[in-house]
Amino acid sequence: MLETLTAPAPDKIIALIGLFAADPRAGKVDLGIGVYKDAEGRTPIMRAVKAAERQLVEEQQTKTYLGVTGDRTFVAGMRDLIFGEGVEAARIGGAQTPGGTGAVHQLGELIRRARPEARVFYSDPTWPNHPAILDHLGLASSAYRYYDAASGAVDFEAMQADLAAARAGDVVILHGCCHNPTGANLDLEHWQALTQDFAARGIVPMIDLAYQGFGDGLEPDVAGVRHMAAALPETLLAASCSKNFGLYRDRVGAAFVVGETAERAEVAEGNLGALNRLNFSFPPDHGAKVVAMILSDAALTADWKAELESMRQNMLTLRQALADALRRETNSDRFDYIGAHRGMFTQLGGTLEKVKALRDEHAIYMVGTGRINIAGLPRDGMDALAQAIAAVGI
Ligand code: LMR
Repeated sequence: MLETLTAPAPDKIIALIGLFAADPRAGKVDLGIGVYKDAEGRTPIMRAVKAAERQLVEEQQTKTYLGVTGDRTFVAGMRDLIFGEGVEAARIGGAQTPGGTGAVHQLGELIRRARPEARVFYSDPTWPNHPAILDHLGLASSAYRYYDAASGAVDFEAMQADLAAARAGDVVILHGCCHNPTGANLDLEHWQALTQDFAARGIVPMIDLAYQGFGDGLEPDVAGVRHMAAALPETLLAASCSKNFGLYRDRVGAAFVVGETAERAEVAEGNLGALNRLNFSFPPDHGAKVVAMILSDAALTADWKAELESMRQNMLTLRQALADALRRETNSDRFDYIGAHRGMFTQLGGTLEKVKALRDEHAIYMVGTGRINIAGLPRDGMDALAQAIAAVGI
């Protein structure tokens, strides 16, 4: 049997981790996978997470199974954090999933169950796992243009032109905030225009929300999401706690389904539970329980928000420092857009060859055609980085 297998195509983000680890050069710079790093290059456990974990170890009496939709306090807490009060809670079904990737996968399965003929549209560029998961599930998919590399801004006209091909019942994946890989985000007017269009044509959004709190703040980052979910009859949403709670390896996420009525939301939630059961039975508890504890304790919530906000500010400072260094180095405003981008990433806009040259000649690692993790930028090496970027001709 196993002889029929061929080596899988490498995921470019995962492959980069291996290349970086194997590089013996001192001073190598990792701008690859999206993990937050502090000034010492560490990815810290957030204070509120540590406090909740300590409490959990002391107080937890059993590790017996929870339900197939996971910890209900966690799901409700995440629902409120994301949707606020604009959407009637009864219209929102939700289930815990192993990370945001698990949520994307489970929602893909839900689409396949509900409307197997649906086509799913994703942005070009996007997180590589979006098209990979859709292909894996056998869903028909298609890319829409999103980004204008020349200006570093969203190409909304091109996006609308390509989405004109979507038919009633098709699904459009949108990044809730902090677009991965570009860092160029839809503004509220874009969200409003898309909402009107989707409502008129019966299109269902599937929002991937992996960076709430990393862009303009916890509430501003979901302004577009809330507008859309409140106005449309149906919205799917995949949420991740990897970044904003720093719970990467604990795999904490949730899949949400906003239905036209409370009854439909309940049936959809039941289906998410059934799909969990088919794939892994019960979602992993620990990290979700920690998030549930943080979100239901005022002091822990306040401390988590404060630390998240300082991480966000840190990334904004680094972002601007790189834009300034590139302005000095290239004597042009070509990279000023970096300061206007938001979130963990920016697309520098090189070719694969130039990105490889940065790796080979300068030990600087970035994904694809120049996606950089802002949190990985070297605080004291910004000028050297800008020189290297200019030297390879990006
Ligand atoms: C990234 O895009 O680097 C992160 O979302 C991590 C991942 O799983 O790819």
